Amino acid sequence: DAGKKSFSVVIAGGGSTYTPEIILMLLANLDRLPLCCIKLYDNDGERQGLLAPAVKILIEERDPSIEFVATTDPEIAYTDVDFCLAHIRVGKLPMRELDEKIPLKYGVVGQETCGPGGLAYGLRSIPGVIENIDYMEKYSPNCWMLNYSNPAAIVAEACRRLRPNSRVINICDMPIGLEDSFARILGFQSRKQLDYRYFGLNHFGWYTSVKDPEGNELLPKLVGHELKYGNTMPGESMDDYTDHTWYDTALKVKDIVSLDPSMAPNSYLQYYLFPDDMVAHSDPHYTRANMVMDGREKRVFGECARIAEAGTAAGTTLKIGIHAEFIVDLATALAFNTHERMLLIVPNNGAIENFDPEAMVEIPCVVGKDGYEPLSIGKIPTFQKGLMYEQVCVEKLVADAYEQHSYLKMLQAMTLSKTVPSANVAKKILDELIVANEGYWPELH
Ligand code: NAD
Ligand code: LMR
Repeated sequence: DAGKKSFSVVIAGGGSTYTPEIILMLLANLDRLPLCCIKLYDNDGERQGLLAPAVKILIEERDPSIEFVATTDPEIAYTDVDFCLAHIRVGKLPMRELDEKIPLKYGVVGQETCGPGGLAYGLRSIPGVIENIDYMEKYSPNCWMLNYSNPAAIVAEACRRLRPNSRVINICDMPIGLEDSFARILGFQSRKQLDYRYFGLNHFGWYTSVKDPEGNELLPKLVGHELKYGNTMPGESMDDYTDHTWYDTALKVKDIVSLDPSMAPNSYLQYYLFPDDMVAHSDPHYTRANMVMDGREKRVFGECARIAEAGTAAGTTLKIGIHAEFIVDLATALAFNTHERMLLIVPNNGAIENFDPEAMVEIPCVVGKDGYEPLSIGKIPTFQKGLMYEQVCVEKLVADAYEQHSYLKMLQAMTLSKTVPSANVAKKILDELIVANEGYWPELH
């Protein structure tokens, strides 16, 4: 509609495999969030260059009035922008591969955000995210950063400590995926028809209520299903999922929920509660990083090359990022004061009454023009509190290690992680990760 303000966005980590689907999602939502400019920013111009020509075509064919810029220059990227959508991966997929494979050599969970690999990724990500926040504040002080760079929990803790007053909102798409499954299980068209109560840390939490539009509580029905089928549907098989790891994860919810059938768990808890099963089901020579490099990365870059060559995106196989819709929801809430309720990663500050006020927790918040207001959660039970406190201390120790360049803090973080069986193993994994992360980590002593 004429007169509605239009916005300028920069995507940090422009060379990400997720960039095209985010672009398609932004283009599909222009009626809600009008855009006058889309910029891609990456510190690896070559990688971003593999996507940028196709992105330019996607935008031109949808709305030629939108200005498009792809750059490696932070000043060009961050000047005159209203929103930064940040999805950087410091070290890119080859470092993810090492994060996953090094712990697995010692029989420990090898995962992008959980366990020693996630801690290693955290120590790499902190400076990258802080650098982008600083560019944003220098060139567009009123810009909001919607940050979904992983590992979100550690990155959020670093933001809380190092840039406490910055306009950064940390958010994750995992709850969206879970809520999609819940809607399916409960027979609703869309996750947005349901109201949720949730508490926890990022990749580490529980739904305590799922209500229909009339306010009826559906959690017992949901948990009843999960105890039988996990988050799969009766009769489903591996072939109904993008790959077997997502099917296994949906099925494993059955075991997780049996530890407390009063709540519906985040499926990432499988790595903390059943690390032995996770390791037994991993191939130490072929991990998620390999699947992503052989799958999504080849597919996305290949299709972008085809579009650039053809000079048109007609008939493209690129798909809109449906999960990524939450990013438009968040930007729209900030831009137009919608007061939408969303799960964000925010300082606890009393929201969970019996939990560390200085922890970064994932809880429902109301989002409007001036940012977010967390909802009060009240007291949480001992089992969840104990698990969460151990994990939040692990995350804080990684931030300590970053700030103090401390080997000891990093060793303590690895030792305390529920995924690691002993300090001996923690030390072996850490020493190998130090060598692998040379040039990315601060020098630890
Ligand atoms: P990718 O390796 O394909 O792309 C990441 C890009 O970031 C690369 O092009 C890299 O050059 C760039 N980059 C690295 N450091 C940078 C810096 N300091 N400044 C600017 N750009 C930088 O990675 P991917 O698999 O597409 O994932 C991107 C990120 O998004 C990861 O952190 C991933 O875990 C995260 N992710 C988060 C969610 C969520 O909801 N939380 C969902 C999906 C992916
Ligand atoms: C990915 O790169 O696919 C991740 O964001 C999630 C996963 O599949 O490990």
